[in-house]
Amino acid sequence: MSRIEEILEKAAKMRAGGGNGEKSKRISPPGSKVPRVVRQARIENPNLVTIVDPDSSTAEEYRKLKSMVVKLTEVDDFRNMLMVTSAIGGEGKSITALNLAITLAQEYDHTVLLVDADLRQPSLSNYLGIHTELGLTDCLVDGVGIGSALIKTGIGGLVFLPSGSKVSNPGELLSSNRMREIVKELKHRYPDRYVIFDTPPVLPFAEVLSVGALLDGTIFVVREGVTPEDNMKDAVTMLRDANILGVVYNAAETVFLSGHYNYSHYYQNR
Ligand SMILES: Nc1ncnc2c1ncn2[C@@H]1O[C@H](COP(=O)(O)OP(=O)(O)OP(=O)(O)O)[C@@H](O)[C@H]1O
Ligand SMILES: [Mg+2]
Repeated sequence: MSRIEEILEKAAKMRAGGGNGEKSKRISPPGSKVPRVVRQARIENPNLVTIVDPDSSTAEEYRKLKSMVVKLTEVDDFRNMLMVTSAIGGEGKSITALNLAITLAQEYDHTVLLVDADLRQPSLSNYLGIHTELGLTDCLVDGVGIGSALIKTGIGGLVFLPSGSKVSNPGELLSSNRMREIVKELKHRYPDRYVIFDTPPVLPFAEVLSVGALLDGTIFVVREGVTPEDNMKDAVTMLRDANILGVVYNAAETVFLSGHYNYSHYYQNR
């Protein structure tokens, strides 16, 4: 059996409720633009405050971030295709991408697509507690249709495109023409909805620049006490064509404005 046949068979099993035993069900006919697979997210990470502690001041900071993003992107030409990135590793890109996507999906109650484009160290499946076999790499390498890989998470209108099978050439794939086509297809599929890409950090992995060039805007994450100033400046310079909309200052102990946050986010339009 060819690789693509194997993948399609796995996908069929998953859609039929088999796969890894998680509950899933078909909700629309093949060919529909609505994702066919539903997996209820199980979120445990305490930093995903928009789910685990929605009344906290930190969750409120994410709602402010969402409002800023909406203000900066709902212009004449809707800038709906956004990426979240940072300079080095572990600064909170994935947590930020998730909290932002969840807030948009909850408050607007309409579809938001979250794409795990960190093909090197994907983490969104773990954070969401959703484990499937198909994802972006399978669409890139094997020509699997995007519709087969999309998952409805049960969180508002949040739809998830996992990173997919492990590959040996993630940099090449993210910079490929096929990636360009997939971004176009997603734009076509979700012309009036937000599509948020979680990515690897910029300095070690220059392919992020190729992704940024395909999208409408970038949210840049800096983590207090983690991101060295020089690295931050170098990354922002590298991202000059990626339309940085603003900066999320993550895990701040610093007091900003009138409030005191021991964990907060601060968003600033350049
Ligand atoms: N504001 C915060 N306060 C405390 N812990 C945080 C905060 N933001 C993220 N973390 C934790 O830091 C770790 C890294 O976060 P995350 O996965 O979002 O970073 P990342 O930038 O996506 O990392 P990578 O570069 O590996 O993809 C996780 O354990 C996460 O729970
Ligand atoms: Mg990450």
